[in-house]
Amino acid sequence: MNEFQCRVPKVLFGSGRIESLGVLASELGHKAFLAVDPYIDSSDLADRLVRGLDRASVTTTRYSKIEPDPDCFAVDEAAEITRKNACTSVIAVGGGSAIDFGKGVAVVAANPGTCWQYTRRTDHTPKIPGPDTLPVIAVPTTAGTGSEATHFAVFTNPKIREKSTIVSDRIMPRIALVDPELTFSCPRQLTALTGVDVLAHSLEAFINIKASPFAKMVAIEAIHLVGRYLVRTVKDGEDREARENMAWASTLAGIAIAHSNPTLPHALGQAAGGFIHVPHGASVAACLPHIVRLSYDADPASFAELAAALDPAARDLPLNQRAERSADLLEQLFRDIDLKVRFSDFGLKEEHIPRITQIALTGYSTGISLHPKQLDGAGIEEIYRACL
Ligand SMILES: [Fe+2]
Repeated sequence: MNEFQCRVPKVLFGSGRIESLGVLASELGHKAFLAVDPYIDSSDLADRLVRGLDRASVTTTRYSKIEPDPDCFAVDEAAEITRKNACTSVIAVGGGSAIDFGKGVAVVAANPGTCWQYTRRTDHTPKIPGPDTLPVIAVPTTAGTGSEATHFAVFTNPKIREKSTIVSDRIMPRIALVDPELTFSCPRQLTALTGVDVLAHSLEAFINIKASPFAKMVAIEAIHLVGRYLVRTVKDGEDREARENMAWASTLAGIAIAHSNPTLPHALGQAAGGFIHVPHGASVAACLPHIVRLSYDADPASFAELAAALDPAARDLPLNQRAERSADLLEQLFRDIDLKVRFSDFGLKEEHIPRITQIALTGYSTGISLHPKQLDGAGIEEIYRACL
């Protein structure tokens, strides 16, 4: 067995746990930068959180100019505000964009340089966040990215139309406060797309050719929960049991992906998503079923396990049929949640394919190399064309 490590944040999970935010935040100082998703900012929840923080003597600098796939330059501006207001912690409330934004602010507010300089890229040596990086409390309001449990944060650089990731233990949230009730108002389409992101994280963490036993163990449980509860959650957003289990699946999938690099679906989705501004979940959903169909024969044992986790009835099939069944089940799941996403829906054109293939090969080579089916540039172009 190869060496591996486990890296899990303190997770406080449960409906109603949000009420403890004030007390938790007060342990990190009395001035917090509150990064809130704009949709949440216009709801009662944000006011409720501020009142709760206030009662715990935590004053907040509230900030909600956060776009999907956060802009690295907006992070620099917000970090300046954080510094001016002498905030000692960051509370990030929202989906993956708000949480990643908060992680970026935590780095730039307390370290020299810009957000982009901390991202991991081949065209520069990334700066390393130091020990003064502000502690982050992550409060997810979607069952999706699992960012509350990872040491990653993804940013878009609009000047070069690319995405890159800060990777550092210093941005692992000090506390992941996962209250499933916060996901209850998530709209149907977003519930479907974020749910597919949960599946993609766990699936990719599981099939990664270097996945550790810990990553596989956590990932397979998340896949099992998605198979059992995603359709229910999309069909009835008030289904408490389904919402709670999807919130848990999302955090588990985040833990899994933090231990096992994402593979081809995230590599191709993010390369396209930075270029044409596809929302993250949609960019992955656009290529996930096709990639599974193309890949199951490269590692039948893993894909067979995947099928059995999604649908226990698949357990009785012979190994190769079970592996093939994983692709059928994924396509069926997409039909059941009424999800049809293609890259062309977001403006991707045939003539963009060589460029985004190049971006994928240079910016996401690790994820591509860890996928069980090895593909070259021509193979990647073919996937983009099939999913256009
Ligand atoms: Fe993702």
